[in-house]
Amino acid sequence: MKIVTLAENTSVSEAFKNEHGLSLYIESETHKLLFDVGASGLFVENAEKMGIDLSQVGTLVISHGHYDHGGGLKNFMEINDKASIYINARAFENHYSNRVNGEKAYIGLDQELRGNPRLVFLQDDCVLDDALCIFSNVQGTRYQPSGNQDLLMEKEEIEVCDDFCHEQNLIIREKDQVVLLIGCAHHGIVNILDHMASNYDLDPNHVIGGFHLYNRSRKISENHQTIEAIGKELLKIQASYHTCHCTGVEPYHRLKAMMGDRIDYLATGSVIKI
Ligand SMILES: [Fe+2]
Ligand SMILES: [Fe+2]
Repeated sequence: MKIVTLAENTSVSEAFKNEHGLSLYIESETHKLLFDVGASGLFVENAEKMGIDLSQVGTLVISHGHYDHGGGLKNFMEINDKASIYINARAFENHYSNRVNGEKAYIGLDQELRGNPRLVFLQDDCVLDDALCIFSNVQGTRYQPSGNQDLLMEKEEIEVCDDFCHEQNLIIREKDQVVLLIGCAHHGIVNILDHMASNYDLDPNHVIGGFHLYNRSRKISENHQTIEAIGKELLKIQASYHTCHCTGVEPYHRLKAMMGDRIDYLATGSVIKI
């Protein structure tokens, strides 16, 4: 299985522009799929540079209703007319982020796309086929990202703390490989792994995505003790971790110091084979 980072906060080289966002292209024996589309059309530009034909993608999964994961949806639909696009039914609700100056910024999706007939809205877990399964409704409360406190949703015209019911994760299975893809892990990476183990009786071989250990609004990382506690939990599972985006570079280095070759960083332009 090949995994290509089309958009992320950093780049492997100056050949690729980057942005605050996430977009991963995955090619397995049976699927060409996209997990998130970044904040803009940048993922399309980078795919072209890497010789990836996004018109051939058959499945797009949007991890949650934040612009940095679904901002490129319109761009994707312009170049691909066949993919099934799976998104949570609540992803188009209004989402906001507190800013340090006391203002709130809209960080939701483009409301123009809300009723688009190409979107498949999911409310619950969904087995797409033998290889792909989407799950949501993660319940645990261990090591939830402190950055969540600055993220809001609109409920009955009032802004309240986001419950992240719009967040979904993807399991890809190929032969004996089990790969877990997550967007921002707003439910907490440890809770997502616990949920997968208890509901699917599965531990992944590879975990790919953002772990949300950096609060972008306040420009602060999770404290050292929390990062180390999370690292210890991650090491309990025999998986390789490929992280990026909202993990933050400093928390990543802290995890790397603990986890060694069990973890690496996926920057825009990186290609890994697993
Ligand atoms: Fe994000
Ligand atoms: Fe997010």
